[in-house]
Amino acid sequence: MSGTGTGNEQARKTAGGLEYLSGFGNEHSSEAVPGALPVGRNSPQRAPLGLYAEQLSGSAFTEPRRANRRSWLYRIRPSAAHPPFARIGNGGLDGAPFGGAEGAVPDPNRLRWDPLPEPAEGTDFLAGLWTLGGNGDATQRTGMAIHLYAADTSMTDRVFSDADGELLIVPELGGLLLRTEFGLLSVAPGQVALIPRGVRFRVELLDPVVRGYVCENYGQPFVLPDLGPIGANGLANPRDFLAPVAAYEDVEGPVEVVNKFCGNLWSATYDHSPLDVVAWHGNYVPYVYDLHRFNVIGSISYDHPDPSIFTVLTSPSDTPGLAGVDFVVFAPRWLVGEDTFRPPYFHRNVMSEYMGLIEGAYDAKTAGKGGFVPGGGSLHNMMSAHGPDRDTFDRASAAELRPQKIDDGLAFMFETRWPVTLTRQAAEADHLQARYDDVWQGLERHFRP
Ligand code: FE2
Repeated sequence: MSGTGTGNEQARKTAGGLEYLSGFGNEHSSEAVPGALPVGRNSPQRAPLGLYAEQLSGSAFTEPRRANRRSWLYRIRPSAAHPPFARIGNGGLDGAPFGGAEGAVPDPNRLRWDPLPEPAEGTDFLAGLWTLGGNGDATQRTGMAIHLYAADTSMTDRVFSDADGELLIVPELGGLLLRTEFGLLSVAPGQVALIPRGVRFRVELLDPVVRGYVCENYGQPFVLPDLGPIGANGLANPRDFLAPVAAYEDVEGPVEVVNKFCGNLWSATYDHSPLDVVAWHGNYVPYVYDLHRFNVIGSISYDHPDPSIFTVLTSPSDTPGLAGVDFVVFAPRWLVGEDTFRPPYFHRNVMSEYMGLIEGAYDAKTAGKGGFVPGGGSLHNMMSAHGPDRDTFDRASAAELRPQKIDDGLAFMFETRWPVTLTRQAAEADHLQARYDDVWQGLERHFRP
């Protein structure tokens, strides 16, 4: 048995057949059964309809309002009603700190991977997670991890939650239906979904095989970047972030709950589904965002701004302007710069850059087999030299500078403040390209004083 919510009021949107509540960081409220949400208080003596009231805190109680995140959940059973957790194998997952006995040493080389191999038959999203690397320390709530996933089977009779960080899911192949404690989210390539730290969810496949990327953010939750002189609008607009309406499942029977805690997986079998939240309110919620809604801003005179202008979401650190991790998208856009080398410039960066490709091609790299392909990824670690490959440099240096639409690709970047240490499986993977450095070979000497 299950129920799907009536969301609240005018904020409701419909996308992909699901109802959503609109607005980043809003105080939302939703109830799947009328009257399930208490009015005027959070924890009445007896919650409506015999439900249990429970607060989920994503920030310390005492953090300032702008950073404070919590939601109140009204559920069939309290989350506390569960048996002990026991360690299970971590599969392809790894956690920070990276580089211990199982890890590889940090690598200054430019590295690029082809897509993950086909998943073994019967692989669900959780079993299909494969850690490339990361930084920081999950126990200190700093840093991030880069995971990929490939799966061909829906999760059944089990749910996942990650105490270590929030999960930004970036599908590249195939759609996902995310059944969360807060309700249902649908996410397809070109869209991203965020599951907050600790929120239980199950992933069902909307296509036979799915593949994509996950940024696990151990640090402060992602927020929208400040806009400064850009003004009050632009980049990712808050109203395009969609939270679910309440939807619960009433399942009496064994459900495995897998909890990622300080890098390891722990499992407990409940006698009911914990996706049993009938109503909720608050600002600590999962959400989806369509990257095609990103308002791309760039130069209308010469040069192009640094790629930070393409930041969708940022996880701030204690140092102003220094992100634990930024999520940046290279979306379709016009290039009009006069006397300008229009592709991304040659670059060395104190920040470390992991790039992935959702569709098409990226304008600094030649596409095609053995190149930068959808589902693949590149890592340009701290201070490693990168930029356009030889073909791109030659072409862009000679191009006639008419207004030009870049509309054949959707690439993204996880840009992080610390170097990314690889897992051993990533350092030794068969799909790690052996000759990535070659793309910068043959850049000719033109200087002849
Ligand atoms: Fe760069």
